[in-house]
Amino acid sequence: MISESTGTGDAGKDVGLTEVPTTLRRNQDPKKKEKPAKATLTHEAPLLEARNLTKKYNNLIALKEVSFELGRGDIFGLIGPNGAGKSTLIKIFATLLKPTYGIALIEGKNIIQDPYYARPRLGYMPDFFGLYEELAVSEYLRFFASAYGIKGKTRERTIDYVLELTDLVVKKDEPVTALSRGMQQRLGLARVLLHDPVLMLLDEPASGLDPRARVEMKELLRTLGSMGKTIVVSSHILSELQEICTKVGIIEKGELLYCGKVEELRNLKRRGDVIQIRVNADETVKLKDHLRRIRGVADILSDDENMVRIRVDEAQTNLSHVASEIIAGGFSLRHFCVEEMSLEELFLKFTRGDVQ
Ligand SMILES: Nc1ncnc2c1ncn2[C@@H]1O[C@H](COP(=O)(O)OP(=O)(O)OP(=O)(O)O)[C@@H](O)[C@H]1O
Ligand SMILES: [Mg+2]
Repeated sequence: MISESTGTGDAGKDVGLTEVPTTLRRNQDPKKKEKPAKATLTHEAPLLEARNLTKKYNNLIALKEVSFELGRGDIFGLIGPNGAGKSTLIKIFATLLKPTYGIALIEGKNIIQDPYYARPRLGYMPDFFGLYEELAVSEYLRFFASAYGIKGKTRERTIDYVLELTDLVVKKDEPVTALSRGMQQRLGLARVLLHDPVLMLLDEPASGLDPRARVEMKELLRTLGSMGKTIVVSSHILSELQEICTKVGIIEKGELLYCGKVEELRNLKRRGDVIQIRVNADETVKLKDHLRRIRGVADILSDDENMVRIRVDEAQTNLSHVASEIIAGGFSLRHFCVEEMSLEELFLKFTRGDVQ
């Protein structure tokens, strides 16, 4: 566990011992980003980089040539089914596992060769973590803060800040066993925030949480991202993370099948050839006849009094042509949009190899 390996090297130095780290201060406006730290030579490198990371367990290839880069403030959703290699990848970044080959770099420095550079800069929350049952919430945090070399008043102030950030102030004197699952997950996050890491590695932080607690967890991650922290967060469910992530990686059987910006994923979601059209309800029947006469409309897929769905032949037509023909036909066009795939559909397409 990272927290146990601190106290060595420069682990304690990274946290200002005289004041609470500025990046831990909650912004008044979570959408407003703090100014990034002044660029230095090392900070110009990607904050996190994987180059051909490969991990073999005997004959099993758990990770296969995984490469990507993340910048400061990126929230990277690592999505994949059970056994895809998510935890393996996160453990390599956390310096707990050595790759068979390939390298990982934080701020341009090789994590594998120089774990003592990496460790104070990262906070790792494993999928399962122990909670030292006999301790109260603040004692639990004090224990870990001490392990990070945070002392005296700074330690107390830092604990207060992380409790506030994770909304656990009212629980600070409660035993950790009295916390609900969602609160325990937030305490896990509070713990990895103590030393103000620039990179947070969160292995399924929302697993086992109810819908409300999942929303709260997402809000918390969004706040941390707005503070400039780079976050790698894994999940089985693409739709769960896409609204807070700046980048997503879809991984299966150790291979990164897709890695890119969420907007690009949205473009991929567009079906391209299925269009939803809505006109006034009393015009729908007439609209269907009209659509059949428009060049490039291949099929009418379904209709109800509110919506007509058509398939167009993309090679023969363009969308503005269809829209202008509808308007030229005297219809009141109320809705016209290219249908999107659900994220689940897209995920299945990726993992079946249907998307290149
Ligand atoms: N210590 C190990 N020894 C042998 N095989 C392992 C070991 N750890 C993981 N594996 C195998 O490596 C593959 C990837 O496992 P990993 O735990 O990284 O997947 P995951 O994506 O985190 O899955 P989950 O969603 O279930 O947590 C799996 O096939 C797993 O069985
Ligand atoms: Mg896992």
